[in-house]
Amino acid sequence: MPLTQQEKQALIDLANVARQRAYAPYSNYPVGAALRTKTGRIFTGVNVENAAFPQTMCAERVAIFKAVSEGEREFEVISVVTDNGGSPCGGCRQVMAEFGLDTIVLFGDGNGKLIKEMTVKELLPEAFTSDHLSTQVNK
Ligand code: THU
Repeated sequence: MPLTQQEKQALIDLANVARQRAYAPYSNYPVGAALRTKTGRIFTGVNVENAAFPQTMCAERVAIFKAVSEGEREFEVISVVTDNGGSPCGGCRQVMAEFGLDTIVLFGDGNGKLIKEMTVKELLPEAFTSDHLSTQVNK
């Protein structure tokens, strides 16, 4: 069933509230995410930066890793909220692709406005997935 406007807005709002908990003292670019699983559970995430810059973790991956670590692997939709409605980085697209190319990605801005909606497949065409590996482990 397609997502209603209300459901989309609720996920944008959850990500925007989570965004207040972002730890982004270096970039001053707080990001919030809210992931809904096919079982209906919601996991939020924020970016967590580090003085050793490469150790920073993006909001989307925090939400996805929280979900996976709680036993969820099938996702319906993830919202991502930034000040300016920015789109998910390449690394996050790859991590999203691992768990399904049909997951819907909602982009929101700091005013809670839904800016754009795409699938992971659209965000990462020709994604590298487990299908490309001859030996599959941990499946
Ligand atoms: N960031 C995210 O949290 N998600 C993205 O998809 C893009 C970038 C964070 C990482 C860093 O803390 C800040 O935004 C600026 O790059």
